[in-house]
Amino acid sequence: MKETYHKSGIGSGTTIPVLAIDGPGGAGKGTISRLAAQRLAWHYLDSGALYRILALAGSIHHIDLNDETELAKLAGSLDISFGIGGDESVWLANQDVSDLIRTEQAGAAASTVASLPMVRTALLQRQKAFLQAPGLVADGRDMGTVVFPDATVKVFLTASVEERAQRRYKQLIAKGIDGKLCDLLADIQARDDRDSKRAVAPLRPAVDAVIIDTSQMSIEEVLLSVLNLISLRTSQ
Ligand code: DC
Repeated sequence: MKETYHKSGIGSGTTIPVLAIDGPGGAGKGTISRLAAQRLAWHYLDSGALYRILALAGSIHHIDLNDETELAKLAGSLDISFGIGGDESVWLANQDVSDLIRTEQAGAAASTVASLPMVRTALLQRQKAFLQAPGLVADGRDMGTVVFPDATVKVFLTASVEERAQRRYKQLIAKGIDGKLCDLLADIQARDDRDSKRAVAPLRPAVDAVIIDTSQMSIEEVLLSVLNLISLRTSQ
């Protein structure tokens, strides 16, 4: 089953709660965001997938990864849909691109297109449109700073670069894909660098974000901390 997002966003002033989860790659955002959305029965926005799909669509259309004008135009017309419930599939038109967009190469390409200001503007409304009742868990780099600055709870998940490289390595091995730990470490550092040094919406915690270092924490511990923050805030 898949769901196409709605193009009309809900403006500010809405009371629909948002849990914004930002942080660098490999800090556990995807896992925690999906689990939190399931437990809360809220919608889920995987904003990184939008940048990944755009980079993929750009390569299909032979558009250079630095061609800001063409990529922004493409971003406005992409036919993207996501699986719902437990279905984690991602679709570009009628093609299931779930695996294609999850490679290290696709992540690096996404980080490159994401540094282009016109691309970010073109994808902004699409992201805001995910805000629907009963609530939204939004996963990305600028959810709490730019896309949902009024989010109910803002969390910044982080972990040491070594720990994040280890996690990626284990994920690859589990999928039967070969990888070198030192290459993964270098890729992660390069991506952190590009995401945090770009001029527009750089990766950084919102001033009112709760920073959680997940290096020594289990998934369940992180999830409980995040859900506690939500229940404290929504029961006030
Ligand atoms: O979360 P991810 O690894 O799927 O994201 C892929 C790239 O997309 C990431 O390196 C930077 C970019 N990105 C972004 O700039 N802003 C977001 N809100 C989400 C992702």
